[in-house]
Amino acid sequence: TYTPDQVGVGPDCFIMPKGFEDWYPKYASFSVQSDDVWVITYPKSGTTWTQEIVWCLLHGQDSPDAKLELMKRFPFFEFDSLLIPEWSPPPPLPEDSPIRLGNSWRRVQEQTSPRTIKSHLPKKLLPSNFWEKKPKVVYICRDPKDVCVSYFFHQCKLEGYCGTMKDFVDTFLDERVSYSPFWLHVLGFWEMRNEENILFLRYEDMQENLQGAIQQVAEFLEVNVNDKEVESLAHHCSFDQMKDNPATNNETFLDAPNTTSQKIKFMRKGKTGDWKNHLTEEQVRAFKEWTERYLESSDFPYYRDY
Ligand code: PPS
Repeated sequence: TYTPDQVGVGPDCFIMPKGFEDWYPKYASFSVQSDDVWVITYPKSGTTWTQEIVWCLLHGQDSPDAKLELMKRFPFFEFDSLLIPEWSPPPPLPEDSPIRLGNSWRRVQEQTSPRTIKSHLPKKLLPSNFWEKKPKVVYICRDPKDVCVSYFFHQCKLEGYCGTMKDFVDTFLDERVSYSPFWLHVLGFWEMRNEENILFLRYEDMQENLQGAIQQVAEFLEVNVNDKEVESLAHHCSFDQMKDNPATNNETFLDAPNTTSQKIKFMRKGKTGDWKNHLTEEQVRAFKEWTERYLESSDFPYYRDY
């Protein structure tokens, strides 16, 4: 069963997994640098996809290091706090395994600039000097119905979730899964989308025009790329390529023997609208009401039509 703790108080209180609070003082006092590049999302919104784009733009997709697992090249800021007890320490793991406690934090600290950092933290839980240093942030959002379906399969595979899809949807809409409330997460960054150091992208737009999204990210990072390079990177970052690439498909460590299901892949479907295969009409209505409630006084224009 899934019983996350709450962090924060008041109307914008976020749900964080057990263990987060122990690490939080370290995270809060982390020294952010102005030339850091952060990829931030609510989980299952296209983080891995965007990380690969950002990393390849900064270092080149043909760099020998591109063969290293993304978790090593582009560490996950708060990952250690999410490692569930059954994983730490799991049966013999290589010294440098991303799922060995402490490795993610070590990698974050050891990176040379420009550091590339992944996080799912909402705005208010980022390090305290974040908004003073203003590192570049690429934020990606995705239709919450697709996020919820993707999250369900992620939890089944990696966190021993034994509930049904129905249970998970109820929990998701009740804001009881880690990093929720979804809309407060998204709107926090949406409100800052016009700041110079923020690039706000949508998973659906990346699906529709990946080359266009790559151009946007390149411009934001101030990296010069020609059309041929953009085309080649779009091919490299296509779902089919990333799912078969051991450096990006997360299989080497997420298929550790003690994860519960070997059948679900991290690179699962990579589609927009897979919710139609999983949600009932009643659940879609519940999503609609929940969305309207949060977006009532917001100018956020997406995911309102059902
Ligand atoms: S995580 O665990 O929060 O970091 O997951 P995240 O990377 O944000 O989201 C995983 C979903 O993104 C899909 N994905 C892609 N879609 C399209 N193209 C590419 N290249 C790509 N790479 C990852 C991945 O398949 C997950 O979505 P679902 O719907 O589960 O397939």
